[in-house]
Amino acid sequence: MKGEFMVDFKKEIAKSISKVTNLDEKELKNYIEIPPNSDLGDYAFPCFKLAKDLKKAPPIIANDIKENIQIDTNIIERIDVVGGYLNIFINKKTLVKSVLENVAKNKEKYGSSNLGNNKNVVIEYSSPNIAKPFHIGHLRTTVIGGALYKIYNFLGYNTIGINYLGDWGLQFGKVMAGISLWKDEYDFKNNEMGSILKTYIRFNKEEKEKPELTEMARDYFKKLEKGEPEIVRQWEHIRNISIDNYQKTYKLLNSKFDSYNGEAYYNDKMEDIIEELQNKGLLRESQGAKIVDLEEYDMPPCIVVTSAGTTIYATRDLAALKERINKYNFDKLIYVVGSEQQLHFKQVFKVMELMGYGEYIKKCVHVPFGLVVDKDGEKIGSRKGNSVFLEDILNEAIDKVKNIINEKNPELEDKDDIAKKVGVGAIIFNDLSNSRIKDEIFDWDMLLNFQGETGPYIQYIYVRTKSLLSKAGYIPKIDEIDYSVLNEIEAINTIKLLYQFNEVIQNAADKNEPSILARYLIDLSQNFSTFYNQHKIITEEKNIQNSRLFLTYAVGIVLKTGVELLGMEMPEKM
Ligand code: ARG
Repeated sequence: MKGEFMVDFKKEIAKSISKVTNLDEKELKNYIEIPPNSDLGDYAFPCFKLAKDLKKAPPIIANDIKENIQIDTNIIERIDVVGGYLNIFINKKTLVKSVLENVAKNKEKYGSSNLGNNKNVVIEYSSPNIAKPFHIGHLRTTVIGGALYKIYNFLGYNTIGINYLGDWGLQFGKVMAGISLWKDEYDFKNNEMGSILKTYIRFNKEEKEKPELTEMARDYFKKLEKGEPEIVRQWEHIRNISIDNYQKTYKLLNSKFDSYNGEAYYNDKMEDIIEELQNKGLLRESQGAKIVDLEEYDMPPCIVVTSAGTTIYATRDLAALKERINKYNFDKLIYVVGSEQQLHFKQVFKVMELMGYGEYIKKCVHVPFGLVVDKDGEKIGSRKGNSVFLEDILNEAIDKVKNIINEKNPELEDKDDIAKKVGVGAIIFNDLSNSRIKDEIFDWDMLLNFQGETGPYIQYIYVRTKSLLSKAGYIPKIDEIDYSVLNEIEAINTIKLLYQFNEVIQNAADKNEPSILARYLIDLSQNFSTFYNQHKIITEEKNIQNSRLFLTYAVGIVLKTGVELLGMEMPEKM
């Protein structure tokens, strides 16, 4: 859906072609392409898609359509036939007018829509495992999920963000067993979180040689599951200080959640799901464990109760999914979790389907993503065997930007605030700028390069728009704009991108792929930069200045909105 007053060119083209061919307008609209080079037209229609229906060769279809089509020259200026293609040139003045009027009307809301009609989209993201370090690996889910949350919201969905904390499970048994053994060896008094992490790491190392340690951890976890008060109290304490610790990172990243219902929340809801599985005849005994056999679907069995009698990760996911079905009436339930858990989600979804929840499972989607690696392709932190804390990395980014500012623009006001926006923004953008399934390359020089395809580059172009507007001292009124002035190819290219903003956001949501928006913002920044390098914006000629200045203003709005949809913040100066 285009904004209220925008001319929908694709729709108009499809309507005209539909009148000549008697084919379905919607289907025709889907065939319309944007040619790689605008010399070939603003849109192209590939007639070979119609060859089967019309039983003619594509070039003949193209000629027939061109001969018979009725066009409104306010919308379509010209059609060329090249082979089996119709190359369509739209009326540029209509384009410019349509876009700029819409920006003037909607301002910060430009690009939004009510497509979602307030339907619920539940997005589960971040979900760190408590008692383990919040390390760079958690960046991706936190940032991708946060961007999707904002993107869906901008499209009129009611979004619900869930941080499904990993706050239950054997790792607590390990930490508690470790503390009981080594509590005097670490400084729990002054650095509790750090000591918990050290205990956990040591436990994992030592248990490889001493299987009795694993037994001990199991015992602790069993006591926790049974609800022994002293153990529950200790668990609660570890959980609380971990969450407090995460908040520092969430604050830096501007991450917000509507619910922190994690695995522990489902502790008393698992009996119900186990009983339901039993009643529906899906549970089988296998070597002392209770499983759902998935051989028929080419998957290993889904273990629901272990041979030790405890529940596991999958059990809690089943319980959580059932609760969400009952609670949220969702149009979509999105799990933003690394690609190494692909099989896990396939199993969970299949089990729920077998239980009869198939119509809801159709609305569930696992949104996977790759690892964070250094420029040699090695997983970050893995070499040293310990993790790199996300909070430290974010602070390092801020410090690096502060150094750059001190070097290049020491007089700048609000240095700290700007360094935060640019430093954290650089990290977020780097995470979102490539297709999420690829591994993210983390390289300081690349992500902080102000001339590269980076967050700081987009912020820099935005700040340029701001300084041009303040140099002029005003934002022109829309009725002072002479649209025909904006006829240079650089202006038209920029305006075409502005025109596509809503479609880009929608596309990013359809594919759950924030990188589509990230790439678009780079494209827009580069195109606008080309425009203002070639055409003076502040000039003697008022008429020209007004039009170019308004375009500058429009670009600024879209860059800011877009960057904020990605979860970054926009500095006004830098
Ligand atoms: N806590 C898990 C981890 O850090 C991620 C949770 C993913 N969500 C889920 N519903 N299983 O690996």
